[in-house]
Amino acid sequence: PKKSGFRYFRWAWRATYLSAIAGLAYTAYGIYEMKNPGDQAEPDPTKKTLVILGTGWGAVSLLKKLDTENYNVVVVSPRNYFLFTPLLPSCTTGTIEHRSIMEPVRNFLRHKKASVKFYEAEATKIDYEKKVVYVNDDSEVKGATSSTEIHFDMLVVGVGAENATFGIPGVREHSCFLKEVADAQRIRKRIMDCCETATFKDQSPEERKRLLHMVVVGGGPTGVEFAGELQDFFENDLKTWMPEIADEFRVTLVEALPSVLPMFSKQLIDYTEQTFKEETIDIRTKTMVKNVTKEYIEAEYVGADGKKVLEKIPYGLLVWATGNAVRPVVKDLMSQIPAQADARRGLNVNEYLVVKGAENIWAVGDCAVANYAPTAQVAAQEGAFLARLFNQMAKTEEIETELKNLSNAQETATNKDARDQIFGNIKDLQKRLRRVNSMGPFEYSHQGSLAYIGSEKAVADISWLTGNIATGGTVTYFFWRSAYLSMCFSTRNRVLVLMDWIKAKTFGRDVSRE
Ligand code: FAD
Ligand code: NAI
Repeated sequence: PKKSGFRYFRWAWRATYLSAIAGLAYTAYGIYEMKNPGDQAEPDPTKKTLVILGTGWGAVSLLKKLDTENYNVVVVSPRNYFLFTPLLPSCTTGTIEHRSIMEPVRNFLRHKKASVKFYEAEATKIDYEKKVVYVNDDSEVKGATSSTEIHFDMLVVGVGAENATFGIPGVREHSCFLKEVADAQRIRKRIMDCCETATFKDQSPEERKRLLHMVVVGGGPTGVEFAGELQDFFENDLKTWMPEIADEFRVTLVEALPSVLPMFSKQLIDYTEQTFKEETIDIRTKTMVKNVTKEYIEAEYVGADGKKVLEKIPYGLLVWATGNAVRPVVKDLMSQIPAQADARRGLNVNEYLVVKGAENIWAVGDCAVANYAPTAQVAAQEGAFLARLFNQMAKTEEIETELKNLSNAQETATNKDARDQIFGNIKDLQKRLRRVNSMGPFEYSHQGSLAYIGSEKAVADISWLTGNIATGGTVTYFFWRSAYLSMCFSTRNRVLVLMDWIKAKTFGRDVSRE
């Protein structure tokens, strides 16, 4: 038995060894392929011009799967990179460096079979009747031409959403959002600035308390994940390097509804709230922020006597995470289309993601309303669906042209054998056409929801064969990490994120304010 035990051990060792080699080889191949793009065909101007607005989850997922040789593809976005948003909260504290979750669009567009035009610009207006998009270079460096127009035959709107403020005074002026890389950088700087300023010589105790109060408004997943990351940063690093702030640093999460993470199951909501209590994050539910000033927020809640109370809450850092609002360019398009008169949260689309009331315009992701939550998961599946649809439309057109040519040839053919041969070919093509045209409408497949809640714990509501699994804790946290690592855009991103995690664990997070 000793011998056979040893044999199993040897086999297990060999299997591990071989899978490590396979993993390394796969990574090395990924890197080689990424660095050595092949030749690309030039875009064919005689083909239909497909304009894609945005380089987020929806647009990039479409571009990844699109056969670009079928169209004259043009991409317009003010951001020349894709951002892996699920790990953005980790960038606010330096657990992950922002460049690790950015993938330049130039890199992946260079790997498409036929080249794609990319313009770093913002679409300011879509004229759907003229089939024109007006674009504006809003970057720091502008050339002699900084605004122009682009004609389209087909248009995909994937511009995402902007931050909701509900018109609450002072939000835009005084708070930090958490949507873009610049937002995460701003928050990271501001956390350290608050800590350093609080320890400034002769700072009054009251002012220290205010500066060290970090307030997060919005108990959706963005607010919860950020609060968790911030508390981790404090517990693991700030407390060690700045022990003088240890007793005063506080994180408060303010939420208007009765609980945080409303999209998760009750069990996970309770688990999150309990974990936050242990982490000493103060949760203020049923509290609605009504006004924001430079140094405090005014929040309303119902007191024990049933009367409304307006409380002033001083803060050093205010992070505003209250969800999405419609972008102006989308609002403007909605106002041009009578069928969109009832649309409120974005462009109403049909089951093929066509913008209702407009021809040849599709919408994906957060700017489209298709009765799904505005998540990366939905946007990515919608983008992949459109790629399949457009690939199929191109194939259909190709077969139809071939069929037309064949029936012309059949009419002019003098020989019976040739006519029979053509007849056979036509039958085959018609069969292929039926197969190609059998694509059904978009159907979303929900894989589940995941959120990090701090102290190496995560919550997950996962759709499984037999139903839903709701789980929370440290094992879920490792699942969360491996799921997001595997979902990163490229091998390069995966390696960089992994290195950042190792770096933060080994040396701690960087507390310098740059
Ligand atoms: P986006 O990804 O926002 O992309 C929009 C693109 O359009 C960008 O490239 C932008 O630059 C561009 N654009 C903007 N304006 C214009 C214009 N006028 N013209 C041209 N281009 C324009 N979802 C999940 O499912 N799981 C998660 O874990 C998760 N975590 C998140 C964490 C954070 C911090 C945030 C903010 C969101 C998170 N989400 C998550 C939600 C998810 O990021 C969004 O649902 C998703 O990004 C929507 O994809 P999109 O393509 O519609 O928009
Ligand atoms: P959200 O819309 O999910 O949550 C915003 C919260 O802010 C709401 O609970 C709302 O009640 C609250 N709120 C609004 N106004 C308020 C006020 N004045 N005072 C106090 N509270 C107020 O927004 P979030 O978290 O930004 O998420 C946006 C989308 O992105 C969602 O669809 C979400 O599912 C998705 N997302 C998913 C993540 C994940 O799966 N891990 C992570 C981050 C975002």
